[in-house]
Amino acid sequence: MSSEPSSPAVSLPRRIERLIAGQATSDGAGVKLVRVLTQDLQRRLDPFLMLDAFGSDNPNDYIAGFPDHPHRGFETVTYMIAGRMRHRDSAGHEGLLENGGVQWMTAGSGVIHSEIPQQEDGVMEGFQLWLNLPGRDKMNAPWYRDFKAGDLPRFTTPQGVTVTVIAGASHGVTGAVTRDATAPLYLDLHLPAGARFEQHLPATHNAFVYVYRGTVSIAGQSVPPQRMALLANDEQADGVAIEASSDAKLLLIAGQPLNEPIAQYGPFVMNTQQEIYQAINDYRAGRLGETAA
Ligand code: FE2
Repeated sequence: MSSEPSSPAVSLPRRIERLIAGQATSDGAGVKLVRVLTQDLQRRLDPFLMLDAFGSDNPNDYIAGFPDHPHRGFETVTYMIAGRMRHRDSAGHEGLLENGGVQWMTAGSGVIHSEIPQQEDGVMEGFQLWLNLPGRDKMNAPWYRDFKAGDLPRFTTPQGVTVTVIAGASHGVTGAVTRDATAPLYLDLHLPAGARFEQHLPATHNAFVYVYRGTVSIAGQSVPPQRMALLANDEQADGVAIEASSDAKLLLIAGQPLNEPIAQYGPFVMNTQQEIYQAINDYRAGRLGETAA
């Protein structure tokens, strides 16, 4: 924990373009979740492909987890608010993700992995974000890193807002991960009632907020809990200002669009259909997730 470095104020904050409730669904071996960022928003929220929110105190909703499955062509960022999940993959990586930790996995040319809860009761809550890779990086070697809660850069503003910087940079604090092509910003913000938080954002970057506790106000519009607020891209706007109507917790996520074609088939996200066929063939032939000779 450190005190906040100085940061100039946002002069013209973005307004909200849309509020989105997400879709209740299940994935893996029956894990119940809410798909907040759905496939129809991939173009609008380029470079982000998906955001799932999972949260339950009923083990039947999560216990079977996500057994072995492949990924190719993008990155997954899993942020565990509460609970414990073990990750194993074909590149030989293994880690335990728990209470406030982040797992950042670059699937690149391909991994086969499992994500299995390590608890039989209690609350399991967290988020998984899918971040696209530029075409030139889609077939790079897989990469993986676990960050425990205490390893994540964090600061508190004079108004008492606690900011965890998972990716990008905020108020001079650089996050756990940075990426050149997509320049992702991923902040977890905890605001006491009445507090205000401002964040500079490049006007061309796509940005959204997901409120998971309490209610906030953005440019005079209220955002209730379990809602995504898609922030408008106004070329004059230089950031976002968030005011807490009650004690609130939210994710603020932004990134630089890739403006490349998106071809997706389940866990494979490439630029062309031909590359998707190749991914399916590689997976069926056992070539996906092989470590290079
Ligand atoms: Fe996965």
